[in-house]
Amino acid sequence: MPQHLLAIDDVADDFEAILRWAIEFKRLWKQGDEVAMNFLPLDTLAIGSIYEKPSTRTRVSFEVGVQRLGGSALTLLKNDIQLGKSETIGDTSQVLSRFLGGITYRCFGHEDVEELAKHATVPVINALSYKHHPCQAAADLMTVIEHHDDTENLCVAWVGDGNNVLHDLMLACAMLGIDFRYACPEGYEPAEDVVERSQKFAEEQGSQLMHTTDPTEAVKDAHVVYTDVFISMGEEHMKDKIKSFEGYQVNEAMVEGMDSKWSFMHCLPAHRGDEVTDWVMDHEQSIVFDQAENRMWAQMSLMAYLINNGAWEAMREFMGLA
Ligand code: CP
Ligand code: NVA
Repeated sequence: MPQHLLAIDDVADDFEAILRWAIEFKRLWKQGDEVAMNFLPLDTLAIGSIYEKPSTRTRVSFEVGVQRLGGSALTLLKNDIQLGKSETIGDTSQVLSRFLGGITYRCFGHEDVEELAKHATVPVINALSYKHHPCQAAADLMTVIEHHDDTENLCVAWVGDGNNVLHDLMLACAMLGIDFRYACPEGYEPAEDVVERSQKFAEEQGSQLMHTTDPTEAVKDAHVVYTDVFISMGEEHMKDKIKSFEGYQVNEAMVEGMDSKWSFMHCLPAHRGDEVTDWVMDHEQSIVFDQAENRMWAQMSLMAYLINNGAWEAMREFMGLA
């Protein structure tokens, strides 16, 4: 059975090592380290990425990341393939498994990526579903660690919709024992099962998980504030939803209540003027473009981990983790 990544807690046991490797590999690669630059765990493997929704970061970071690991990247856009028109997800999955070393899938309902994984004989990576966005969370926690040394005393606050990005961020913070508060308006809270899973990790790690409907309470003395669009892809018909987010914009007044070394995070794309102001987005303490870049490094680590176990052993040894 291949190991899939449908939600970030699928890699809970090795999450810290995956992030450590991503950070170290990025550093070595950027300083032109020959060993890092010639480390090709995906050598000769093709990775196929199916997109049912638009993407900038996920698509480019997977295409470039796969190439840097020695593999070839195939992007399969919804309108160009048979999936959903004349072929089931299960049949597509079995066919693609005969050609590819791994499949990434950006879809609508989370059950679609579950179905693809059920029939795949190669690892499936969720590249965003309505419920989860694990690759984003891996890049996010990598970025948090790079910018904040003391994760033990760190508090991350979410202000916004109870959506896919919140789900995996909350799980990931809890998995690493980072205190997490989330402010979501009534009716837009995260899924109960995700909160329960996160609560379990937080208890194991001895960290706090708190919900409020008051953004000011969530960000008070916090080190990181994170938001996302109020209307996600697939919710374009729900324009009225935005009315529930009055007071949820991350702006200058909101960050005033935070620790002076606050960071602003956003998965992007951002709707400037809605969930965040230009002042915050363009502030020197905004780390949104580091997050975007880290999508690639974190996914490279995840792919080597999931797709090629031999490579992961070599990576652990390389990092002194063996
Ligand atoms: N954050 C993110 O997943 O961006 P894209 O939609 O551009 O891939
Ligand atoms: N919540 C957003 C994230 C985009 C990266 C969406 O699903 O559209």
